[in-house]
Amino acid sequence: MKLTVAIDGPAGAGKSTIAKLVGKKFNLVYINTGAMYRAVTIIALRNGITAENISKLCNMIDNLEMHFEDDNIIVNGEDLSNEIITPEISGKVSSYAAVLEVRERLVNLQKKIAENYSVVMDGRDIGTVVLKNADFKFYLTALPEKRAERRYKELIDKGINAEYKNILSDIIKRDYADSHREIDPLTKAVDAIEIDSSTMNIKEVVDLMAEYIYRR
Ligand code: DC
Repeated sequence: MKLTVAIDGPAGAGKSTIAKLVGKKFNLVYINTGAMYRAVTIIALRNGITAENISKLCNMIDNLEMHFEDDNIIVNGEDLSNEIITPEISGKVSSYAAVLEVRERLVNLQKKIAENYSVVMDGRDIGTVVLKNADFKFYLTALPEKRAERRYKELIDKGINAEYKNILSDIIKRDYADSHREIDPLTKAVDAIEIDSSTMNIKEVVDLMAEYIYRR
């Protein structure tokens, strides 16, 4: 039986960590849609294509082959997993993710993957746009300070240089940009289950989601 799980929420709420674990528990393919917007940002920056240059951006995306191997994002044969999480890309991704033509292309790709596999997908518009009919929709949130703390730790653990106060200000800026953009802004789907993870650890969140899934 096919199962689809959508997890939306603001930056650093723990969506990817949780989604990976829920995926393992229920044997679902995990799709990190933020990684797809980040990968587009990397390739655009490498080619000097700004978010305003729509035709070049579209042409660029149409010539990208993007897929996931385990949890790694591979673009035109290159593993971009480490580069996608750098502060430079975090600071620039919102402007590319706000472009209608970019969203149309990535949303189509996401929908196609979900047609073929049982998936858990995380992002900003999964429950509202990409998987409107998902079997389960979760909206995962946490206080901005908590989210910044987690992102900081994640970067330091990976050996990437970072400053807490810069991460916090980036998160606050990105929250604003992601929830105020014109196209498919971050909002909680009406039928999503909201989980505030500020005072919960990873296992508690995964167990809670699993409980909802088992219950049905
Ligand atoms: O989840 P993340 O921080 O890796 O996402 C990176 C950016 O991509 C985020 O600022 C908003 C955007 N994004 C989006 O607009 N829609 C998605 N489904 C996922 C991410």
